[in-house]
Amino acid sequence: MYNKKHLILIGMMGTGKTTVGQKLAQKISLPWIDTDSEIEEELGMTIAQYFKEFGEEAFRKKETQILYDLLKGPTTIITTGGGIVLKSENRKQMVKNGWVIQLRADPEVIIERAKQAAGTRPLLQGNLQEKVNQIIRDRQGMYDFADWSIDTSKLSVDQVVDHILCYIHDKGLI
Ligand code: S3P
Repeated sequence: MYNKKHLILIGMMGTGKTTVGQKLAQKISLPWIDTDSEIEEELGMTIAQYFKEFGEEAFRKKETQILYDLLKGPTTIITTGGGIVLKSENRKQMVKNGWVIQLRADPEVIIERAKQAAGTRPLLQGNLQEKVNQIIRDRQGMYDFADWSIDTSKLSVDQVVDHILCYIHDKGLI
């Protein structure tokens, strides 16, 4: 049984999920929750600290647990960390319980945007360009399960929000 009650934004780091999700939530008066912020709040440390102390695998477990808790809850705009798609069960659960929108961006745009908050993203330490390109290669096709996708490369946050609102209204979602 499908119960697509949430709106879920997925995509690589730097595609604007968090900023877009927050604005979208204001426009349609829905609660907005970001999985990374939830993790940081619950653990009382930043994602970067958690990665350093406990490693990526522990982070992925926490991420999955937070995601499933949110999916069970009331209708919410859920913004996710870029790696949430790595587990196939996460992908299955997201598309079952929500309308999943993929935010895309060209690699150069992702690199440019990621420069601004590079220190907060443990997977991007080192050569930013190489890391981003490697992650894009490793995750090839993993975001494609989304119900809809939008290229944010040349759009402002407000434009992305407006496109998503059109999609939601056209389809009569939520
Ligand atoms: C990650 C993306 C980050 C955060 C963590 C890992 C990833 O979230 O969850 O650093 O694996 O792509 P954003 O996509 O919000 O930057």
